[in-house]
Amino acid sequence: MIDVFIRQHLPLLACLVALVLGGKMKIVEEPNTFGLNNHLLSQGSQLQARVTPSPISGPPHLFRLAGKCFSYMESMYKYDFCPFHNVTQHEQSFRWNAYSGILGIWQEWEIENNTFIAMWMREGDSCGTKNRQTKVLFTCGNSSRLASVSEPQTCVYFLTFETPLVCHPHSLLVYPVLSEKLQKEWDEIEQARYEELITEQGYNKMLRDVFEEAGFLKRAKQPIKQEQHTPSPKHQTLEQCTQEFAKQRGEIERLRSLLSQHNISYEMATGRPTIPLTTVQDQHLRGDTGILDNI
Ligand SMILES: *[C@@H]1O[C@H](CO)[C@@H](O)[C@H](O)[C@H]1NC(C)=O
Ligand SMILES: *[C@@H]1O[C@H](CO)[C@@H](O)[C@H](O)[C@H]1NC(C)=O
Ligand SMILES: *[C@@H]1O[C@H](CO)[C@@H](O)[C@H](O)[C@H]1NC(C)=O
Ligand SMILES: *[C@@H]1O[C@H](CO)[C@@H](O)[C@H](O)[C@H]1NC(C)=O
Repeated sequence: MIDVFIRQHLPLLACLVALVLGGKMKIVEEPNTFGLNNHLLSQGSQLQARVTPSPISGPPHLFRLAGKCFSYMESMYKYDFCPFHNVTQHEQSFRWNAYSGILGIWQEWEIENNTFIAMWMREGDSCGTKNRQTKVLFTCGNSSRLASVSEPQTCVYFLTFETPLVCHPHSLLVYPVLSEKLQKEWDEIEQARYEELITEQGYNKMLRDVFEEAGFLKRAKQPIKQEQHTPSPKHQTLEQCTQEFAKQRGEIERLRSLLSQHNISYEMATGRPTIPLTTVQDQHLRGDTGILDNI
């Protein structure tokens, strides 16, 4: 009976032993120095990040912020924002166990309306079932500094970072930072939306893909594998679609000008005014009879 009991509860027992030992070790490890010498001077050095930061990305003129850190003091706490790396919090106290923790590790940009809005630092120290995370908003200011810190939700922090680097109205635009290839992809997506070939939802999804490919956004975890095995099927589809559309449009134009030149009336009942009549009229004005000659 006891054997079975022990076997069933082995993990729990191990846990209890560890707790007891852990508690004892703490007492041994922390002699009564009131943390004066060892804590405030070495704060942060014992912090363990759960993840490595994402690569540096976004507007190149902000890359110079990498490796720097900016502090903000508020009552008992000091906050450190190290762009493209991390956000940490340090309790300013002589308690031997003053809190020091990671509020987030650099992960990705928040993009809205073709503009880099904020840096997301996630995967910080655990907070219940979640991990602490921090959004750092970039605003124009006379000097680079952390201007405010708040905690709008439990364990979600909101920092405002002022810097002269973002004062130019174009300084945070996404499009100019993209490679030529991705700019072209974005152009095609805009064209497809304009021609109502894709829904608003499809538009947002495709744009997100472009931002992920550029490294501005972290890839959503699930679709990664699919995309790796069948490389960007969406883009192929869009490209084919656009090409097909252009082909069809050319054909319609050709037929329409034929009809005009033969003086046969036709209806504009397609519902979408995609082909301006001026094309045909222009041909008349130019006296272009090429098509008739070919027949
Ligand atoms: C936070 O970033 C700074 C600056 O890059 C670095 O020196 C420090 O080790 C980082 N701390 C953690 C806990 O990642
Ligand atoms: C989006 O940005 C454009 C210029 O970049 C601006 O004119 C427009 O007001 C912005 N819209 C929103 C909703 O922020
Ligand atoms: C920036 O500096 C100018 C002149 O030095 C001053 O008038 C202005 O109020 C400052 N702005 C901020 C946001 O500090
Ligand atoms: C085409 O129709 C117009 C009137 O709609 C007429 O004036 C013209 O002569 C016609 N042209 C030919 C080639 O039939």
